[in-house]
Amino acid sequence: MNTPNLFTPVRLGAMEAPNRIVMAPLTRMRAGPGRVPTPLMAEYYAQRAAAGLIVSEAVAISQQGTGCPNTPGIYTAAQVAGWQRVTEAVHQAGGRIFLQLWHMGRISHPSFQLDGGLPVAPSAIAPRTGQVLTENGMQPYVTPRALKKEELPGIVAQYAAGAERAKTAGFDGVEIHNANGYLLDQFLRDGTNQRKDEYGGPVRNRARLTLEVTDAVAQVWGADHVGIRFSPGGVFNDMHDSNPLATFSHVLHELNRFKLAYAHLIVSTKDDLEHGAVPVPLAALRKEFHGPLIIANGFTYATATQGLAEDMADAVAFGRLFIANPDLPERFRLNAPLNALEEATLYGGAKKGYTDYPAMGPQLVIR
Ligand SMILES: Cc1cc2nc3c(=O)[nH]c(=O)nc-3n(C[C@H](O)[C@H](O)[C@H](O)COP(=O)(O)O)c2cc1C
Repeated sequence: MNTPNLFTPVRLGAMEAPNRIVMAPLTRMRAGPGRVPTPLMAEYYAQRAAAGLIVSEAVAISQQGTGCPNTPGIYTAAQVAGWQRVTEAVHQAGGRIFLQLWHMGRISHPSFQLDGGLPVAPSAIAPRTGQVLTENGMQPYVTPRALKKEELPGIVAQYAAGAERAKTAGFDGVEIHNANGYLLDQFLRDGTNQRKDEYGGPVRNRARLTLEVTDAVAQVWGADHVGIRFSPGGVFNDMHDSNPLATFSHVLHELNRFKLAYAHLIVSTKDDLEHGAVPVPLAALRKEFHGPLIIANGFTYATATQGLAEDMADAVAFGRLFIANPDLPERFRLNAPLNALEEATLYGGAKKGYTDYPAMGPQLVIR
């Protein structure tokens, strides 16, 4: 087989993506009241429809799963209707879009919870660093409440219900958010999971909730429409694990039983490693997971092309480059200059820094 590059089509489960340039999930905090996706969000995603696959920003599966202002949900009829506008716009523009299923667990705050209750987590352990952005500004984290074992089927049911509603909303599939220190990552790692029941202790127990959620979501969609995202070396949201290589090797290996559309790994950059991230060799994880692999974090056209040529992964996700360049695949193809990212408009606001990054003008074709 010829060496694949970013423009080689790739099969991700049931989907044939026309290129290997994935738009990474990106929280932009521009949902409307009631966490309803807006027409502006439809425009934003449709502008980026040339991606082989768009993964939506993280989407709360329940009120309990929320913990950040102006992020969208998928637990009310109005939210489903809002997402229908988004998926229609993306499909009309020729694209494909998965919804990222999100429960924030302990990274929430009582002000987001029903009746001001405590956020939930595997164990009553608060993040040691950082603060939570609430509707009333930054607040310290509270110590979450440990979920009772009897409550865990309800958590699985929240993911299944989110998956079901994503189907109604017209998505092409769903990505389970098991990365970046949110609920499923909190269960998976021994720094945040100190449970004494069969959901805590050895890694086969800590991975149980991830596997149950994957099973439930795969029953809704068919496993070939389901992806899952991990951040094996990440320390964001005060994550730590005594043996991340063993943890992530185990869970990726166990996921083979489902034949998922893909696994999506956030790799650690040199800069991340200098700031506390833990080195977890990608090659080892690639061996454990037998399905399509997407990698993300800090990739450029050159490093992504090299990564595909070296078979590090089957596709590469781009985050910040896609924010600033709605027509990123075309710019890559033409080796055209890239727009610079504006940090100040990443989170919240309206059009500025969202839908007003310019696409290239019509190209002069010289034959
Ligand atoms: C503004 C912003 C929002 C993000 N939101 C999410 C998110 O909702 N879900 C997620 O899994 N990762 C999220 N990430 C991480 C990105 O998906 C991606 O892994 C990261 O930006 C590194 O890739 P890049 O160097 O190509 O930007 C976010 C990153 C940024 C910069």
